[in-house]
Amino acid sequence: MTTQGPAWVYTEKVKEHFIHPKNVLQDDEVFDEDARGVVGNIKCGDEMILLIKVDKEKGTVSDIRWKTYGCASAIASTSILSELAKGMKLDSAYGLTSKDIERELGGLPEHKIHCSVLGDKALRAAIDDYYARQGMFDKVKQQKAHIICQCVGVTDEEIENAVLEGARTYAELQEHTKIGTVCGQCKPKTLELLEEYKTKHFSDSIRK
Ligand code: FES
Repeated sequence: MTTQGPAWVYTEKVKEHFIHPKNVLQDDEVFDEDARGVVGNIKCGDEMILLIKVDKEKGTVSDIRWKTYGCASAIASTSILSELAKGMKLDSAYGLTSKDIERELGGLPEHKIHCSVLGDKALRAAIDDYYARQGMFDKVKQQKAHIICQCVGVTDEEIENAVLEGARTYAELQEHTKIGTVCGQCKPKTLELLEEYKTKHFSDSIRK
């Protein structure tokens, strides 16, 4: 009798980065970080810690280490992100999104896309942390925003931006941000903010 396992639904590139992840922080490794970003929530099953070193003269990310308790998608996404971001100017690295990661990986299964957002959020948190440690508080962007979804690390600012980009329903907001796709505890607050931002930006067109 032959036993067949479930089909592998990921691309070869995801498989490669999952099996041989790059820039993972080893248990016995001493990495002299310049900054760190921590996102996600261990209760939701995904938590990401990402450390960076910065070349201060060039203003680039010179090295990265990361560790996650996430799934195959989270591991592959962060591995490829760490390769992409190394050598980038801090501002360009800050602009990397989950879409860039998905594209590099050749796609992810729809229900796994939320896992790919943890790495880029952790990278942005690390860059913010770097600026904060350097006393360059005017460069810290995240500090002005509040995290609404702990699992995926979505802020109120991102919800507002999604509304400005056309999200009008909870489902559309999820398409834009992946908010609420893990434990769902953030849904009531998210719905409240969704209505608030729709009223704030589109109350005229809603009345018409
Ligand atoms: S807090 Fe868990 S999905 Fe938003």
